[in-house]
Amino acid sequence: MSHAITDFTMVVGQTSEIPGETENYAGLLRRILGGKGASLWELSNKMKMPVPAFCCITACAFTETLRYNQLDSLVQWLMHPDQPLPASEARIRDLIMACRIPKGIAADLTTFTGRYPEERFAVRSSGTVEDGAETSFAGLFESVLNVQKTEDILQAVKTCWCSLFNERVQTYMTRQHTAVPLGMAVVIQQLIPAEKSGVMFTVDPVHGADTEMLIEATFGLGEALVSGAVTPDQYRYDWYQEQESDRTIAEKEHQCVRINEAPFVRMEPLPAAIASHAVLTTTEVRELADLGLQIQMQSGFPVDIEWACTGNQFYILQSRPITQFGYTSINGEWTSADYRDGGVSSTVCTPYMASLYKYALDGTMGAYLERLKLSPARGSVWQKSFFGRPYWNLSEVKKCLAKIPGFNERVFDQGLGISPRYQGDGIVSKTNLKTLLTGIRALLIIRANVKRKLKTTPSFSLGQHRRLQELAAMNFSTLPDDELFQFYQSFICKEFFVNESTYFDLIYDNTNLNGLFKDEVEKTRFDMSQFPLLISGLSGVSHMAPMERLWKMRDLIHADQDCSYYWLNSSSEQIATDLQHGETHYHLNSLRVYLREYGHHSQRELDMLVPRYAEVPEMVIEQLQDVLRQGSEKDPRVRNNEQQIRMNTVKRELLHATPLLKRRKMSQRLEQVREFLWWREELRDLSIRYYLYVRKITLAVEARLLKNGILAQKDDAFFLDMPDLVAVVRGDIPPDEARHLVRKNRAYYLSFAHYQIADEVGERYGMFGGSQLSTPQSEVQPADGQTVTGVSGSPGMITGVARVISDIHDADRLQPDDILVTRCTDPGWTPKFSMLKGVVTETGGILSHAAVICREYGIPAVLAVKHATRIIQDGDIITIDGSRGHVIPPVREAQLHPEDLADSSGHGLSADQAPVTASATKEATV
Ligand SMILES: Nc1ncnc2c1ncn2[C@@H]1O[C@H](COP(=O)(O)OP(=O)(O)O)[C@@H](O)[C@H]1O
Ligand SMILES: [Mg+2]
Repeated sequence: MSHAITDFTMVVGQTSEIPGETENYAGLLRRILGGKGASLWELSNKMKMPVPAFCCITACAFTETLRYNQLDSLVQWLMHPDQPLPASEARIRDLIMACRIPKGIAADLTTFTGRYPEERFAVRSSGTVEDGAETSFAGLFESVLNVQKTEDILQAVKTCWCSLFNERVQTYMTRQHTAVPLGMAVVIQQLIPAEKSGVMFTVDPVHGADTEMLIEATFGLGEALVSGAVTPDQYRYDWYQEQESDRTIAEKEHQCVRINEAPFVRMEPLPAAIASHAVLTTTEVRELADLGLQIQMQSGFPVDIEWACTGNQFYILQSRPITQFGYTSINGEWTSADYRDGGVSSTVCTPYMASLYKYALDGTMGAYLERLKLSPARGSVWQKSFFGRPYWNLSEVKKCLAKIPGFNERVFDQGLGISPRYQGDGIVSKTNLKTLLTGIRALLIIRANVKRKLKTTPSFSLGQHRRLQELAAMNFSTLPDDELFQFYQSFICKEFFVNESTYFDLIYDNTNLNGLFKDEVEKTRFDMSQFPLLISGLSGVSHMAPMERLWKMRDLIHADQDCSYYWLNSSSEQIATDLQHGETHYHLNSLRVYLREYGHHSQRELDMLVPRYAEVPEMVIEQLQDVLRQGSEKDPRVRNNEQQIRMNTVKRELLHATPLLKRRKMSQRLEQVREFLWWREELRDLSIRYYLYVRKITLAVEARLLKNGILAQKDDAFFLDMPDLVAVVRGDIPPDEARHLVRKNRAYYLSFAHYQIADEVGERYGMFGGSQLSTPQSEVQPADGQTVTGVSGSPGMITGVARVISDIHDADRLQPDDILVTRCTDPGWTPKFSMLKGVVTETGGILSHAAVICREYGIPAVLAVKHATRIIQDGDIITIDGSRGHVIPPVREAQLHPEDLADSSGHGLSADQAPVTASATKEATV
C-alpha cells in the first residue's frame, strides 16, 4: 500500500506519502480524508501519537464509485446539498447498498485488512465538512464497530456513505444558505477491544480554566458514552499544578461489548458492584492527560479527544478543536482591549513578557485609581493571563468608574471595542451629591496630573535618554557572574519598572483627558466624524521619525546613480555583510546611524522572543529597498504636512462651532490634548527603547545560566516569569525546579499558540467567545454587500483591493494602494503603511497604533471590525469610510468556503493545483 496521497481515488494507507507542507495543507488533507481521517493522519504521522492502524477510502473514491454505478444524480446533489434530495432517503439507501465497488478500491482495502488477519475493524464516517466549522454535523454520520469479514466491511463502508444523504443534512445546508459541496471519506481502523474508553477535553469547556482538563470515562467501548447511553465518570486534572483536582464517579449501568454477528456490538448491563467502580486510577488520569497535553501543544489550541484503553495501553481515536467555551471558573470580567493592536496580547505571549506588563500594571493601576480617590478594592489583581495572553481587570475598573456621575457601561464598553453582553445600558452611575463630589474631585486631579506631567515629562525623558546612552556603551557579556546578576536585578526591578510605570501612568491620564475633551467637543456643533483629525498631524511624533529618516536616506541614495544601483541590485544579506565589514561607501554610515537611533524597533515590539532591528540589519535594509522603489507621491513627509494642514482646517472648524466665549479655552484644551498625546507617543518610544535592553540583558543572563547548566536551551529565560527569573538568579529557585518551570511554561505557551481566544473572558462572557473558525456563518456574515461597522480611526473614504494579511511575515504580499485587512498591527509594520490606501483591523480604538499611524499618513482606517478577516476575502474590492467607521464588502453570490470544498473534478487535484486562499491558509494555522 504505497499510494501517495495524491492518488486519492484509491485507498490511502497510514504509511502513504503525503504532499509537501503546502499552505493549504490542512484544507487539502481534509478534502481528501475527511475531518476524522485528516485528524488521525496528523495524530499518527505528525504528532507520533498511539493511533490504531488505519486506512482511508478517500472522498473521491466515493464519488468515483457513484459515477461507476451511474449514480450521477447523487454526485450532483453532493455538489448542491441545499437542493432537495434526488430521491427518498430509503431509495438512495437501496441504491448505495447495491453499489458495485470498483475493483481497485476493494483490492487496496483487502491489502490493508489482510495485514491484520486476526483484527477486527471500526468503519468510521469522515465527512469533509464534519468536525470543522459546521459542528452540527457531528453525530449525524454513522460508524460501524467490530467488523472483520471483507463483505461486512464493505457493507459498513456503504452504511457510512448512506448517512450523507440525509434530510437533516439537507435542511441544515438550506438553513445556513451554504453552497459548500459535501464529501465523505471512510476510515477503516483496527478496533481496540477497549476495557475503558472515553473523551478528554484538554480545557474543560464549561469551567474555561485554561490548565484544567476534563476526562470522561466509561467501561467497554466508547460507543456507550458518545451515544449518551451511559453517564460516564468525570475526572478533572490540572496539568500545570500536576494534580487531579476533582473526580465524580458515576453509576455506569451498561457497557458496550463486542458480539460476533451484526450489529457486532451490544449494550450489556454491568453488575452494580462494578458499575460504581472508578474507571481510571490517578496514575491513568495523569498518563492520559500527558497525551492530551502533547496533542494540545502540537496543535496550538484546546482539543477534544476520543480515546480507548486496552491492556494498560492508551490509544487516541480522534482529536478536534474545541470551539465554544464558558468561563464559570473565571471570576469577574477580563479584557484584552487596548492590549491587542500593537500590543502585548496580539498573539500568544511569553510568560516573561506577560509578567513584565503585569508588574507595571499591578504597580500602577490601583495606585492611580487610589489617587483619583475612587477606592479600588484592596489587593486587587489588575492583570492575569488566560489562554496564554494577558488580560486586564475590566470589572474592577468599571466598579471604580461607576462612582463618577455620567458613567454608562455600554458607552464605556463600546469605546473599548467590547461587545456588550447585557440588555440596555448595563451599569449606569447615580447622580447625587456623593458621586458629584467624587466626580469633580477626580476631574480636578486628572487636570492637575496633566499639567504637572506636561511640566515634568520632558526632563524625565531627557534623563532616560541619557541613561540609555550609558546602557548602549555597556558590554554585559564581560561582566563577572555576580555583577551581571546584581545589575540585572536592579535594572529589571527598578530602572525598567520606573520607566514603564511612568509610561503606564501617563496612558491612564491620556485616556481620561481624551475622554473629557471628546465630551466637550460633543457639546459643540462640530462634526464628530472629523474628531480623529483633531489629534492627527502631530509634527515630529516619535513613531514617524524612523520612517522619515528612511525617506531622507532615499533622497541621498537616489542622488547618486552608483549608489542607487548598489542598493537596488544587492541582496540584503550582501549589504548587511558590507555593513559588518565596516564599509563606508554608498551611505552605509547613514544606515549605521539609523540602526543606532531606531534599532530598538522590531517586527513584534512587545514580544521579547523577537530580535530587534539592531540585531538583524537585513530587515531595515529591505525596508529601505522598499522605500527606494516607491514613487515620491508616497513620501510620508509630504502627507504628514498635508495632514497638518487638514488638521488646521478642522481646528478652525472646531473653533467656529464653539460659542465665542469658549473659543480661547477650547483652543487651549486642544493644544493640551495634542501635546499630551505627543508625549504619550514619546514615552511609548522610550518604553520600546528600554525593551531593547530588557532583551539584551536578559539574554546575557540567560547565556550565563546556560553556561552554568541552570537553564537548558535557548530562550528558556523568556519562559519564566520575571520574578521567577530573578529568584533563579538569586539562587532562591533550585536549577531542576527552574528547568521544570520552564518546561511547563513552554507547554502553556505552545498550547495556545494558534488559538484565537475571545477578547473578553469571565462571568458574563463565554459560549460565544473563542472566536475560532467555527463562529456560525450567520454571526460572521453580513447580508450580501451590507455595510459592517467598526470604530472610526482615521477619516476619509476609499475604494480598493483588500489584502487580508494574517501576520507580518505575510506582509510581502501587500501591493501599493492595497487596503490592508488584518486582525491587529504592530508598530514594526509602520514602514509598510506608507504605501497603503486604507487599513481595516479587527481590534483597536482611536488611540491604538494603527489609528495613530494612519492619521499621520492621512490614510482612512476603520478599526474593531469584528471578524473582518473572515468577512472580507483577499482580493475583494471594498470601500471603507473612516469617518463613519463603515466597511462595505462586495456582494457575493454564495458563501463558498474553499477549504471546505469537496473535490468536484474527481481526478487530478494535486497539492499545487489546490485552490490556495487566504482563508484556507488561515485554516492551516488554526
Ligand atoms: N478503532 C476504534 N477502536 C475502538 N473504538 C473505536 C474505534 N473507532 C471508534 N471507536 C469508538 O466509537 C465511537 C464513535 O466512533 P466515531 O467514528 O468517532 O463516530 P462519531 O463521528 O459519531 O464520533 C468513538 O468515540 C470510539 O469510542
Ligand atoms: Mg467520534
